Amino acid sequence: MDILDETHITSSIEEHSAQLDASQYTREGILKYEKIYGRAFVSTGGLDSTREIVKMLNLKSGMEVLDVGSGLGGSAFHMAQEYGAHVHGLDLSHNMLSLANERLQELNLDSRVTFEFGDILESRFDSKYDVAYSRDAFLHIPEKAKLFQTLHHALKPGGLLFCTDYCWGAGDHSDEFLAYVAQRGYDLHTVGEYGKLIEQAGFGEVQAMDKTPLFGDYLELELAKLPDDGSLPEIRKSWQEKLVRNRRGEQGWGWFMARRGK
Ligand SMILES: C[S@@+](CC[C@H](N)C(=O)[O-])C[C@H]1O[C@@H](n2cnc3c(N)ncnc32)[C@H](O)[C@@H]1O
Repeated sequence: MDILDETHITSSIEEHSAQLDASQYTREGILKYEKIYGRAFVSTGGLDSTREIVKMLNLKSGMEVLDVGSGLGGSAFHMAQEYGAHVHGLDLSHNMLSLANERLQELNLDSRVTFEFGDILESRFDSKYDVAYSRDAFLHIPEKAKLFQTLHHALKPGGLLFCTDYCWGAGDHSDEFLAYVAQRGYDLHTVGEYGKLIEQAGFGEVQAMDKTPLFGDYLELELAKLPDDGSLPEIRKSWQEKLVRNRRGEQGWGWFMARRGK
C-alpha cells in the first residue's frame, strides 16, 4: 500500500469515528447507556447475558480473544477476570476507548486486557486469536462479507467466532421501526440470513440462535432497574419503544457461533 492510500484510509477511519463520537456515542450518551446496561456495558443484558454467553465459549487461561467493538470493556474484563483469557479490544469510538481505559485502570488485570483504536474492516490479524467475539457492534457495519472474512482470517485454525447482534424480526416492519433503523444507520438481517453470511465467509458449524424473546426479557429487566425519579427520560422512552417493537416480533436479536476449519 502506498503512503497516499494509507493516509486516505486513516482519514476515512477518523471521519467514521468522529461521526460515532458526535452522535450515538458522545461521552454523555455513553454514560447514560451505562446506567441502564450496568458498569462497563453498552449492550443487551450487560453482565447477565455476558456470563451466560461466555460460559459457552470454553475459554481457558491464556487463550487469546479479540473483542470487536469492545465498548467500555465489560466483556473483556469478565473474560480476563473469570477465565484468565488475554483479551484485545478493538473499537472505533475514541469516547468509548477513553472510558474503557479509565475502567481498566480501576482493575488489577496487568496486561491481560488491552484496547486499541481501529476499524475492524481495516485491521489485519493473521491467525492470531482463539476466539473472535463481538456484542451488538456489527449492526454498525454494512460490509458483512468483508467483516466475516476478516474475522475468519484473524482466527487460528479451529478458532471460534461468537457474536450477538440486533436483527430484523420475522414479521413485517412498521414505518416507525424502519425510521429508527435508518436514523441510526444500522445494517440488519434476519437471524437466518445472518447465519448464511457467516457461512459464506468460510465458517463451519454455524449456529444461528434466535434470541428475540430473551431480548424482550432483558429490556423489561433493564426498564425495571431505571431510577423512579424521572431521570433518563430519553432512555426510558427508547427502551419502551424497543420493547413494543420486540414483543410485536419486529426487532429481533441473534446469537451466532461458528468455527474456522482446522
Ligand atoms: C453497542 S456498542 C457495544 C459495546 C460492547 N460490545 C458492549 O457489549 O458493551 C457497539 C460498539 O461497536 C463499536 N464499533 C462500531 N463500528 C466499529 C468498527 N467498524 N470497528 C470497531 N468497532 C466498531 C462502537 O464504537 C461501539 O463501541
